[in-house]
Amino acid sequence: MAGIFITFEGIDGCGKTTQLGMLAALLAAHSIPHLITREPGGTLVGNKIREIILDPTHNKLSSKTELLLYAADRAQHVFEELKPSLEKGEIILCDRYTDATIAYQAYGRKLPVKLINQLNLIATDGLAPDLTLLFDLPVEEAEKRMSNPNSLRSKDRLEQEQRDFHQRVRQAYLALAEKFPDRFRTISALGTSQEIFYQVSQVVIPKIKSLYPSLNNYVFC
Ligand code: TMP
Repeated sequence: MAGIFITFEGIDGCGKTTQLGMLAALLAAHSIPHLITREPGGTLVGNKIREIILDPTHNKLSSKTELLLYAADRAQHVFEELKPSLEKGEIILCDRYTDATIAYQAYGRKLPVKLINQLNLIATDGLAPDLTLLFDLPVEEAEKRMSNPNSLRSKDRLEQEQRDFHQRVRQAYLALAEKFPDRFRTISALGTSQEIFYQVSQVVIPKIKSLYPSLNNYVFC
């Protein structure tokens, strides 16, 4: 049985990771087999790559090196985690995937889209998500959330980029959602996490319910 591959995308600070956790809790409560994973960092090797990419002291990392590190992380992730999980029939909840490389490296860093599409194809062997949730919110709002004084961690190398970089990333995501309307669902990331999760469940439950009858009586709230 083939599983379902769902990706979570959006600018830094959009709250997608919280939503992924809420969806995972719902699946667990209904005993639905799933994999929680992320890019970069979905494997042991990928975690090491993640540290290299996000370390703010690595300020001499070139855009091309960064791109190739994301691609290497992805190739390992597809091989070690994503394909085996789909073969087991699991629902994959993946925090970022190929769209992030288009948004950040093609539009944020201004590297050629064609090159990135080719690299994505090499890294994924053509494995594309079944559904992509785009959590959209203005960059200024995301900045406010990330500058919360209660936050325990400092900003990573990507988060430290200027506002116009993140604006380009947001616009790129919106353009991708327009280009691939069958795969993308755009969710407003403004509001409380419960309000946002209501939208997430409205999109996801109908998509997976035919495979998992335990969701038939799910009450949206
Ligand atoms: P995260 O904080 O959402 O885990 O993502 C780590 C950072 O990596 C985030 O700033 C987005 C960035 N990123 C890219 O620039 N390109 C990519 O291909 C991926 C997967 C993430």
